[in-house]
Amino acid sequence: ALTAPVVIAVDGPAAAGKGTLARRLAAELGLPYLDTGLLYRATARRVLLAGGLPTDTAAAEAAARTLEAADLQRPDLRGPDVDQGASQVAAQPPVRAALLDFQRSFAARHGGVMDGRDIGTVVCPDARVKLFVTASPEARARRRWLERQARGESIPLEEVAQEMAVRDARDAARDVAPMKPAEDAILLDTTELDAEAAFREAWQLIQARLDV
Ligand code: DC
Repeated sequence: ALTAPVVIAVDGPAAAGKGTLARRLAAELGLPYLDTGLLYRATARRVLLAGGLPTDTAAAEAAARTLEAADLQRPDLRGPDVDQGASQVAAQPPVRAALLDFQRSFAARHGGVMDGRDIGTVVCPDARVKLFVTASPEARARRRWLERQARGESIPLEEVAQEMAVRDARDAARDVAPMKPAEDAILLDTTELDAEAAFREAWQLIQARLDV
């Protein structure tokens, strides 16, 4: 019998360890990995490069509708302006609508480990396993700060924490597809876990669900 492709949803706020975890799960399960945040980042980047504002709905929707594969591979998708811009374009329903088909087709084609904010609630509500990965705001700010230090940026920890709080509040408060755990999501708190421990915990949870 044909079985539906396996989709694993990995949602949660910034710097909770989703990306590292989702990539590793995809490799171990032999599934494709999709970082859906990149779609919003690439959309914001295009708007900013054209001199527009990420809050301009028409400009953001046009950018989302004309994204190309190469846009997802640019080196400059991780700066603070793109962080905030991505969260701003993501709050606009026409932008989300424009990016939805691509995400759903990706999942339907071969399945995948999908990393985002609304995978379990909106993009793939039928995902076989839904993880919602969190960590304390302090732990997340510290991780992001260390990443930025490693890239040679010198920025106070408090500023990183503040930027992250603004973005998380916007992502959680928007009307359409806000960041929140699906009712059937398993919560994974990585505050006290390193990447290896988070993977082991997630792996056990996933095995338990896939075996049923
Ligand atoms: O995961 P990330 O930090 O790269 O995501 C960037 C922004 O994109 C995030 O602030 C909110 C938005 N986003 C979203 O709204 N829905 C998703 N599925 C993924 C990201």
